[in-house]
Amino acid sequence: MGSGIAHVVALGGHDVVINDLAKERFDTAIQNIDKNLTRQVASGKITDEDREKALARITFGETYESLADADLVVEAATEDEAVKRKIFVAICPFLKPDAIVATNTSSISITRLAATTDRPERFIGMHFMNPVPVMELVEMIRGIATDDVTFTRAKDFVESLGKTTAVSEDFPAFMVNRILLPMINEAVYTLYEGVGSVDAIDTAMRLGAHHPMGPLQLADFIGLDTCLSIMQVLYEGLADSKYRPCPLLVKYVEAGWLGRKSKRGFYDYR
Ligand code: CAA
Repeated sequence: MGSGIAHVVALGGHDVVINDLAKERFDTAIQNIDKNLTRQVASGKITDEDREKALARITFGETYESLADADLVVEAATEDEAVKRKIFVAICPFLKPDAIVATNTSSISITRLAATTDRPERFIGMHFMNPVPVMELVEMIRGIATDDVTFTRAKDFVESLGKTTAVSEDFPAFMVNRILLPMINEAVYTLYEGVGSVDAIDTAMRLGAHHPMGPLQLADFIGLDTCLSIMQVLYEGLADSKYRPCPLLVKYVEAGWLGRKSKRGFYDYR
């Protein structure tokens, strides 16, 4: 998600610093961004000059000092509240006082994350969809303290990148994932209960409901650990048994079968 966000922001004409744990992760990100920009050149959406300019705008930030000039910081770490909180506590002392801090969380309370920063009024949820260069939507979520100036600046910025925004209240998993993830979880139950095979379930939803990907293929694409985290946030946050994560989803994650990124999920990518 981080590389996808860097891609669209750089293409939108802004300088981007990617801050990550290791230089190797940055190198992989740049390779992916180049590959995806090249796809857009091939299909005539952008020119080769646009691709080169976008790549030249992206640099690696080895330390948090590299964020000192940023007007906007978008956190896109793994969907784990403790990890995100740690990052906010660590980066805030290095940021400009008026910098906006956004999170790409797909489910966690914006108000709770904002409370770990020194600027809850300049904190906002900016939830991009995967793959970021292709998907039109960004969900915008205000925490209880987010001020109007921050909301307007963040929304205008996202729309200047060519995205459409949809505003959600700060409820567990917001709108897209509150609707999408229970459907994916139900697909896993459908497999777990032996109603259909992986292929049958995905074919049913691709051809029977006109979804671009079957729900199990989409789960592998999102990452099964992310799917499970989102279901847990829904289950705990809304306290309703209809959000109970399917035991098969739990088992796959425990096995390290996380979908495409680990080369094994409901499909085998090895
Ligand atoms: N970067 C740039 N372009 C990309 C790309 C990427 N990462 N991935 C695909 N594309 C482009 C392709 O080049 C192609 O462009 P043209 O039509 O101009 O040739 C176009 O997108 C379609 O791609 P493909 O032909 O390769 O494959 P496809 O038609 O099967 O589409 C897909 C791929 C866009 C991913 C499509 O399968 C799809 O929309 N899937 C559903 C995705 C989805 O639901 N995302 C939301 C996930 S939920 C989420 O993100 C929220 C969360 O928090 C979990």
